[in-house]
Amino acid sequence: MRMKDKSGLVTAAASGMGRAGAILLAREGAKVCIVDRDAAGAEAVAKEIRDAGGTAFAIGADLRDSKASTEIVARTVAEFGALDYLWNHLGHPGPAAVEDLDWQDFDIAVDLNIRSQLATTIAALPHLRARGGGSVLFTASTSGMSASQFSPVYSGMKAGVIGLVRGLAKRYAKEGIRVNAVCPGPFDTPMARDFVDRKDQPATKGQDREALVQKFGSSTAMGRAGRPEEVGYAALFLLSDEASFITGAHLPVDGGLTA
Ligand SMILES: NC(=O)c1ccc[n+]([C@@H]2O[C@H](COP(=O)([O-])OP(=O)(O)OC[C@H]3O[C@@H](n4cnc5c(N)ncnc54)[C@H](O)[C@@H]3O)[C@@H](O)[C@H]2O)c1
Repeated sequence: MRMKDKSGLVTAAASGMGRAGAILLAREGAKVCIVDRDAAGAEAVAKEIRDAGGTAFAIGADLRDSKASTEIVARTVAEFGALDYLWNHLGHPGPAAVEDLDWQDFDIAVDLNIRSQLATTIAALPHLRARGGGSVLFTASTSGMSASQFSPVYSGMKAGVIGLVRGLAKRYAKEGIRVNAVCPGPFDTPMARDFVDRKDQPATKGQDREALVQKFGSSTAMGRAGRPEEVGYAALFLLSDEASFITGAHLPVDGGLTA
């Protein structure tokens, strides 16, 4: 078992890649707290894990709320007695606009792409330190590696996540706390659908949503979108002790998109 006796939490885990990764972590022996704004969805994933013999519980929380980051870490430690890993999977498409930018949309995107991840990591650090080390994973994006003209703001924020990961990795390496990022390419999840047809995206206005999703997915070298568990397996590896000499890395899981 690759995560035997490891306790931790996954944000945005009621759906998509977070859900798939949480199920894989539990299958490999991890105790998992499933965090999501969709409380019923989070509980459904936790139940699925428990029904399969794993250990999980759910917390319904909106991570835009600045108190939520501290609470989810505290509740995970209260339930499992320790914290060994954290996967900050939450993200948000944010505005597509540039000159017509709505600064409120920008602030929401900062909160959901960077601030809550950093706040949850800060809350986790003393607990990881108490265990003599641990592993933190952020979900960035290939958009933070090779940007798109259609998403300058999202690209900037995800590049910021990669920079944050590198800095945190160097800051905490000597304490045995590893910090890495996974960079998904196109994945057909609810968020990807929100991403391709944002109302303030002039490039795709009036176009068929399904066709856009298909085009987004076929942009990889493999010509297909990823399957959620393909990010889940990358997360499992980076969170496990198998990645013990890897910190500050950002791993594309993108079917060759950024090759
Ligand atoms: N789907 C893609 O193609 C793609 C590509 C690159 C990166 N990503 C990144 O992957 C991550 C999630 O993507 P996904 O495709 O797995 O998403 P998804 O749409 O399958 O799931 C997103 C989850 O986040 C939850 N959520 C949304 N806002 C929240 C909030 N304020 N507080 C708590 N939970 C909240 C939703 O309820 C949902 O369960 C994000 O970081 C995203 O930027 C996605």
